[in-house]
Formats: sequence, C-alpha cells, structure tokens
Amino acid sequence: MTRQTIPAAGPCTLFLFGANGDLVKRLLMPALYNLGRDGLLDRNLRIVGVDHNPATAAEFAQRLHAFMRERADKGGEGAGKGLDEKLWARLAKRLDYQTGDFLDPATYTALAKRIDKTSHGNAIFYLATSPRFFPEVAQRLGEAGLLDESAGGYRRVVVEKPFGTDLASAEALNACLLKVMSERQIYRIDHYLGKETVQNILVSRFSNGLFESFWNNHYIDHVQITAAETVGVETRGAFYDQTGALRDMVPNHLFQLLAMVAMEPPAAFGADAVRGEKAKVIGAIRPWSAKMALKNSVRGQYTAGKQGRKRLAGYRQEDRVAADSQTETYVALKVMIDNWRWAGVPFYLRTGKRMSVRDTEIAICFKPAPYAQFRESELERPKPNYLKIQIQPNEGMWFDLQAKRPGPELVMENVELGFAYKDFFKMTPATGYETLIYDCLTGDQTLFQRADNIENGWRAVQPFLDAWAQDGEVHEYPAGEDGPEAGNELLARDKREWHRLG
Ligand code: BG6
Repeated sequence: MTRQTIPAAGPCTLFLFGANGDLVKRLLMPALYNLGRDGLLDRNLRIVGVDHNPATAAEFAQRLHAFMRERADKGGEGAGKGLDEKLWARLAKRLDYQTGDFLDPATYTALAKRIDKTSHGNAIFYLATSPRFFPEVAQRLGEAGLLDESAGGYRRVVVEKPFGTDLASAEALNACLLKVMSERQIYRIDHYLGKETVQNILVSRFSNGLFESFWNNHYIDHVQITAAETVGVETRGAFYDQTGALRDMVPNHLFQLLAMVAMEPPAAFGADAVRGEKAKVIGAIRPWSAKMALKNSVRGQYTAGKQGRKRLAGYRQEDRVAADSQTETYVALKVMIDNWRWAGVPFYLRTGKRMSVRDTEIAICFKPAPYAQFRESELERPKPNYLKIQIQPNEGMWFDLQAKRPGPELVMENVELGFAYKDFFKMTPATGYETLIYDCLTGDQTLFQRADNIENGWRAVQPFLDAWAQDGEVHEYPAGEDGPEAGNELLARDKREWHRLG
C-alpha cells in the first residue's frame, strides 16, 4: 500500500491535551505536517491544542512554527530539508487553542463548543499528557458527555505510553477507561507499531510462503530481540529513575516485536483478528517463579564511560537521578513461549541505554545442519545461520550464510544475503506517527493495543518486578559498552551468544 493510493481521512476535530508538551511539537505536529504533504488530511480537520498555559491560537501556531522551522533546518527526526512554508501555512490555518485546567469541568464545557459542525461531530481526544492525567481526563470527558456517539459522530481517545507501571495499575487504568467508553473508542499507542519495518514483519512472514515452512521449533534454535540505544536518559532523569529499562521498553516495544515474530497467522487482517493473535502469544509467555525470574534476568546500570573520544557521565550523575539509584538502564531476559510452535525455543530480549551502537533488531538463529559434513576437514564448526531483521537504523533483512571462500583450500566464510529498504524504496521523511494518526482518523485499530494485549504484557513482566523487589543485583557497565558481562553469561550458560550489534 502506498500513500498515494489511499484517500484523505474524513473530517474531525482533533484535541491535543498537553499541547505545550514535547510530544506535540516533536512528533505529532511533524506527523500532521507530513500527512498534509501527502494529501491525507481532510479540508475540515481542525486541531485544537488544550493546555493550562494561557495562549491564543496565533501564539500557539507561532511557537510551533518556530520549532518546526528550526527542526527542519537541523534535519530533525522525520523532517525533510527545510520547512515548506506554504504547507505549514495550510496546517497553521487548522490550529486553534483552548486554555484550560485538565481537572476543571469548565474546560470540557468549552471543548464541547469547539467541536465543529463541519467535522460532522467527529472528535478525537489525544492524551499527550503526563500519565497521571489519563484517568482524570477520561472521567471528565465522560461526565461532560463528550464520549457519547449517539448523535452520529465518532468519539475516540488516544492514550500514550506508559500504560500503567505494573499489572495492577494497568488493569485499574483499563477499568477506568472502560467505565466511560467502549474498547472500540480507545486507541492505545505504541509508537513501535508506527514503524514501517515493524509492520513489514507481518507482511514478510505472511506473504512469502517460504518463511512459514521453517518458522517453528523444528528449525529455529532461539530468537534474540535487541533494542540498543546510544543515548542516555537525557532530560528525563526524574521519569526514568522511577521507571527503568524493563518498564520503559519491555512490556510495550519489545513485546510488540516478539508478538510480530511469534504470533500465529490471523484469520484476516482486521483489528480484532490481529490483536487477538497478539494477545494469545503474549499470554503464552511462561510466568516465571521468583527463583526462575532472577535466574533468567540481568539488570545493568551504566557508569562513566566513553563514546569515541566523548566522555560520558554515569547514570547516577545524570540530572534528577538519585545518587544511590538502583534503577536499571539495561535489562536482558530469557522468556519461553508455551505453545505448539515455540515449545523449547528461548526468546532472549535485551535493551539498554548508552550502549555502543544504536540498533534495534531481531535475530532469528537457526538450528545447525543435521550432519557435520565437513568434520574430517580442517574447517571450524560452521557458525549458526541467522536471519536478522533490522528495525532501525539501517532498515532491512539479512541472512547470514556460510560459503566457500574461492581458492584451492576448503575455507568457510560468513556471507550475507540482504535486502535494505533504501535500495528498493524511496523513503519519505516520517516520524512513525503518520500511520498511527491516519489510522485513528479512519477508525482502524489494528496497530493499537487492546486492553488484553496490555495486560498480558504486564502479566509476563510482573514476575521480574516482584523478584527484583526482593533480591538480585544491578550490574555495572561502562557507558559506551554493550551491557554488563552478566548479560553475555545469560546466553553463554545455554551455549549461545548474542548476535553482533550494528
Ligand atoms: C520510548 C522510551 O518509549 O522509546 C525511550 O520511553 C526510548 O526511553 C524510546 O528511548 C525508543 O524509541 P525509538 O523509536 O528511538 O526506538
């Protein structure tokens, strides 16, 4: 599906709660700008920023304009070269602003008046706020009658991550949302699902007959899922110190990748079928006992180190991080999926800040050839075959194979069969939020998380949270390196090793 072949989304009033926050300027506004560039916004789409700071619509637009221009000049994430002023002017005309306290019912009375007749009563309430406001805003939207669809227009609520901090809080948040709206109206975002390469996992698996023939425990030895980042906690120390790598990345982003790799083929490509299969596979992750959770997890925290010549501070020296913090900035886990396809195949997950390279990838490691053909020769044991699916930054898929090096000697070498996105497709600048916003405007929930997807994710990580609260060690690793040695031992113990990064 290319952008050019799909119609513009219909009319709507899009309310952005937390309009002065980072998410709106860094990702949502650039995504709306890109959707405008591709002709995918309806003439009657209005965008209303909602926040407590007093401002006029013109001031709101001006602030965003300054940011968008600077970002485009610097070549920021999802930005083209330079800001197209005509395109921006068309987007700016859609902008409006409502000053209001999220907790004050008067704010919601004011919002009701802003739902434009031209939008046919359609409205989306995007909660780009701090998570503590999610229940409050949802409740007040409900009390003000803003979620009532009986007059004909649709009413949808977009909820950002983090969705809870453990199983109990995620269940409570779901219950609170479902009190005032139906599941059909809730769009829980995981921005990984907006990434082309993540969506491509399903297309590759289910539209190439080849893959299905070996996609199971007969041929696959184990699966590795890595999200390595070079950045530290930047300005988010206060949030991160309460959160840690496990909560920040695993039940959401890494489990989405795991679900894409491990789910059964859905009966149809509709929201219910796809999300049903994902919920099943995440629900099949074996809940570890406390002892096994400790054995199958490694926590790490970066200390001072180097990236090239640049000196990097340790995590405990970062702004708004406790000097004796025990929060993990790296986590490696081993999980098992208890179903027919994956019985006996470990899934190793790792993610960390301040690692040596930025690399989000899935490495599928195949079982060795059944018979050691060359054992009488001088050859070393062949390396395992991997299929690497790189999500970012060098998007594509690569098979590691063994080949004979030309020459009289019998020498095996590792070679790659590959597909890089950039060699086949013209990639237009995108933030990853374009598809998600478009899908929300057109009512397609396939790429959004259903309540059971979220709760099953937390159910699988809760044993680690519980076990760590009682016991276990946080291993140090120098910033700029690939996590603590204990992370390597997690695989070495099973006679395996991490696929090289990069
Ligand atoms: C966010 C996390 O959800 O995802 C961040 O809160 C993390 O800590 C980010 O850096 C990673 O996203 P991406 O798209 O850069 O892989």
